[in-house]
Amino acid sequence: MKNLIVIDHPLIKRDLSILRNKRTDNHLFRTTLRRISSVMAFQVTHDLKVRPGFVDTPLERTKGYALAEDIVIVPVLRAGLGLVDGFLDFLPEAKVGHVGLYRNEETLKPVDYYSKFPRNLKKSLVLLLDPMLATGGSGAAAITFLKNKGAKKIRFVSLLAAPEGVRKISAAHPDVKMFTAVLDRQLNSHGYILPGLGDAGDRIFGTE
Ligand code: PRP
Ligand code: URA
Repeated sequence: MKNLIVIDHPLIKRDLSILRNKRTDNHLFRTTLRRISSVMAFQVTHDLKVRPGFVDTPLERTKGYALAEDIVIVPVLRAGLGLVDGFLDFLPEAKVGHVGLYRNEETLKPVDYYSKFPRNLKKSLVLLLDPMLATGGSGAAAITFLKNKGAKKIRFVSLLAAPEGVRKISAAHPDVKMFTAVLDRQLNSHGYILPGLGDAGDRIFGTE
């Protein structure tokens, strides 16, 4: 599918199976989410540009590198919070913004309730994090939000994506590259991803 990169990695496949398992409790769900998000972060950042410079080892001066671009990580509340620490493990220099959205259970339309972004949003590469890309309503709204605040380069990172959501983001935001750990089959009549993993926010935070 256009603009979609499915990250294929044995560690991701193993962790996704733990996340999908209905017997996985909240604690194991959270720790697995953190680990899988690190592997995702590694892959999503594989082509970032670096700025060459020098570094002094205890013995001599040699070539060194820093990331050439500022990075802003933006989790979509709530479930995106479960991916933040894994990304920060690899991107400790990143700033973190937040977008609060929830889906109205009847209409499946996103409702926004919070946003806060760092100042350097406009000139940064923004990594928008949400484990679930279902109808794509929340993802598309979060991207519009970021663009209205001046973000120009955005990558959307999910773990499970439904074809409907991928098509929606591609159509609404053709400039945004999407990364996911798996492209699932379809949505059910309540907008849940099949086979999916259930409600990500509830499984992270133990709510229902
Ligand atoms: C989930 C998920 C996404 C959204 C995806 O959030 O984390 O943000 O649903 O669905 P969509 O692609 O159809 O918009 P939810 O609305 O359950 O809110 P929560 O994270 O606060 O539980
Ligand atoms: N949000 C979730 O948490 N899970 C789904 O399957 C769809 C939307």
